[in-house]
Amino acid sequence: MDKLIIEGGLKLKGGVQVSGSKNAVLPILAATLLTDDACIIKGVPNLRDTNTMLKILRSLGKNVEFDKGIVTVSSSKKLGFIADYKLVSSMRASFCVLGPLLAKLKKAKVSLPGGCIIGIRPVDLHLKGLRGLGADINVETGYVLAKAPKLKGASIYLGGVYGSSVLATGNVMMASTLALGKTIIESSACEPEVADLAEFLIKMGAKIRGQGTPIIEIEGVRHLHGATHTIIPDRIEAATLLIAALITESDVLIKNALPKHLGAIIDKLEEAGASLDKTDNSIHVRPLKKLNAVNITTLPYPGFPTDVQAQIMALMSVTLGTSIITEKIYPDRFMHVAELNRMGAYIQREGPYAIVNGVRELSGAPVMASDLRASACLVLAGLASRGKTIVSRIYHLERGYENLEGKLESLGARIWREKE
Ligand code: UD1
Repeated sequence: MDKLIIEGGLKLKGGVQVSGSKNAVLPILAATLLTDDACIIKGVPNLRDTNTMLKILRSLGKNVEFDKGIVTVSSSKKLGFIADYKLVSSMRASFCVLGPLLAKLKKAKVSLPGGCIIGIRPVDLHLKGLRGLGADINVETGYVLAKAPKLKGASIYLGGVYGSSVLATGNVMMASTLALGKTIIESSACEPEVADLAEFLIKMGAKIRGQGTPIIEIEGVRHLHGATHTIIPDRIEAATLLIAALITESDVLIKNALPKHLGAIIDKLEEAGASLDKTDNSIHVRPLKKLNAVNITTLPYPGFPTDVQAQIMALMSVTLGTSIITEKIYPDRFMHVAELNRMGAYIQREGPYAIVNGVRELSGAPVMASDLRASACLVLAGLASRGKTIVSRIYHLERGYENLEGKLESLGARIWREKE
C-alpha cells in the first residue's frame, strides 16, 4: 500500500488540466451493454473505478481496449447475465449494469453492492424503478435476480428520502430505452453526469427528452447501435483543484473546467471572497490572502455537491470565522473531521452538521484516508499545513482522481508517494 507525503506551505503556480468525469464514464461504460455494436468512448480517466468497470464488462463477455484515454468496447461472444459479488462489492457504480443487462437479455443477476464508509446506501429506488417497468425482482443470497420477458414503459416517481438518485435514474433510464412505449421518470436526478449518459444513449439511437431536468421522458426503441462519445470534464476534480489553489493562496489556471457545471461551488467560493476569472471552459484563480467563512448545505444538483463537502471543509478549517456545514445527502459522511482535527483544525460534529471554527494554521501530521473525497480533503489540508503530512491508505484517492499528485507537483507542490 502506498502513502502520500506532502510538505505544506508552498504556493502553487501555473495551469492544470481536469480529466474526464468519473461519475459520467461509469454508467456510460455500462450502457455499452445495450448494443452488440462497437462503442468508442473518449476522454476516459485512467482510474481504479474505470478499470473495475472495464473488468466487469470483460467478465460479461465484452472485448475491451483502453489506450490513451480511449475505450473501445465490442462483442464477439454471447453476453453473460451475472455480475459477480467480488467486482460489484468493490464499487457501487457497478450496480448500474443491472438496467442494461435486464433490457438486453431479459434477465440479470447482479450482486448487491452493500454499504460503505460514507453510509448505508440502499438500492430501493433502483429496484422500484425497474419493477415499475414490469420487471420481476427478487433478492436472494446477496444477489438481485431480475426477469422481464418485455419491459413496458411507465410513469415512475424516483424521489427518495434524500432526494433524487443519480445511479437509480441512470439504471432506469438505460432499461427504459428498450422498453415498449413511453417512460416518464419523475424526480429524476439532474446531475450533468446523468445528462451525459442520456447524450450517449441518444447517439446510440435512444429517444430521450428532458435530461438534466427532474422529468425525463424516454420513448422505447427496438434496438440501439454503436456510438462514439467524449466524456464531460470532472466537475468534482475541478472543484478540488479550485480549492487547492485557494487554500494555498495561489495563482492557478484550471483548464477543461466548465463553470456551467460548477454553479453552486463557484457561488460559495465567491461568497467567501475568492477571485475567479471564468471562460466557457476554464477558471483562473487569482491569489487572495483572506477568505470569509461561509455556511454550506449539500443538496442534489444544482445544489452544492456532497462530493465536495470534505474538500470545502479543509478550506473552511483555515478560514477565520465559523462555518456550518450541513450534509443532506449522506448524514454520516464526516470521517474526515477527526483527521482534520488531528492536524489542528477545530471542528465539532453534531449529527448531520459540522461546525468549523477556522484556525490560523494547520500542522502536518500522519492521517488516514477513509474514502475517496476524504482523501482529497486531507491532501488539500496537507498543502496548507506547516510541516509534513503523511496520508496513508491513498488507494481511495486512486479510485477517483487521475494522477492528482502529479498534477499538484506540476503546479509546484512538494508531494510524493512512498510505500507504507
Ligand atoms: C452518485 C455518485 C456519488 C455521489 C452521489 C450523490 C456515481 C458513480 N456516484 O452515487 O459520487 O456522492 O451520487 O451525489 O455517480 N438512495 C436511496 N435509495 C436508493 C439510492 C439512493 O435512498 O435506491 C439515497 C442514498 O443513500 C443517498 C441519496 O439517495 O442518501 C443519493 O444517492 P445517489 O444519488 O443514489 O448516489 P449514487 O448514485 O450511488
